[in-house]
Amino acid sequence: PARTLVLVKPDGVARGLVGEVISRLEAKGLRLVAVELRTLSRETAEEHYAEHREKPFFGSLVEFITGGPLVALVAEGPRAVEAFRALAGATDPVKAAPGTIRGDFALEVQNNIVHGSDSDESAAREIALFFPHLG
Ligand code: GTP
Ligand code: MG
Repeated sequence: PARTLVLVKPDGVARGLVGEVISRLEAKGLRLVAVELRTLSRETAEEHYAEHREKPFFGSLVEFITGGPLVALVAEGPRAVEAFRALAGATDPVKAAPGTIRGDFALEVQNNIVHGSDSDESAAREIALFFPHLG
C-alpha cells in the first residue's frame, strides 16, 4: 500500500494535538508504520522544505519547524498521500474547511499544525529523510 510522511508540527505538539491527529488518521483507516518525537536540525529542516528555499517565508518556516519537538510519522493505506491531505485541509487554515485538521485547529498559514507529503515521489523522499531504515 501507499505511504505518506506526516508531521505534527511544533505548534501541534505544543498545543497537545498529537493524539487528535493520530486519532483522525487512524479513524480514517490509515495505519501507523513509524512514529517518532524529535527536534529537527536546521539541516534536516532545510532539506525537508528544499522546494521552498527561494520563498520569502523560508527563514521563518525553518525557525518554526526547528523551534520545538515535532512528531514525525509514516502512515500507510490506499492513496495515503491524498487521504491525509484531505484530512489536513487547505494550507491556509482560514480557507481550510471546518472538519479538517487545519480548519478545526489553526488560524495562521505558517502555524498550521500538520504536514503531509504532496505526492508519492515527495513521500518517498521525505520518508527516506526522516526514517532511513524504512527505505
Ligand atoms: P506542508 O504539508 O507543510 O508542506 O504544507 P502544504 O503542502 O499545504 O503547503 P506548502 O508546501 O506550500 O508550504 C509549506 C509550509 O510552509 C506550510 O504548511 C506553512 O507552514 C508554510 N507556509 C506556506 N505558505 C506560507 C506563507 O505565505 N507564509 C508563511 N509564513 N508560511 C507559509
Ligand atoms: Mg508542502
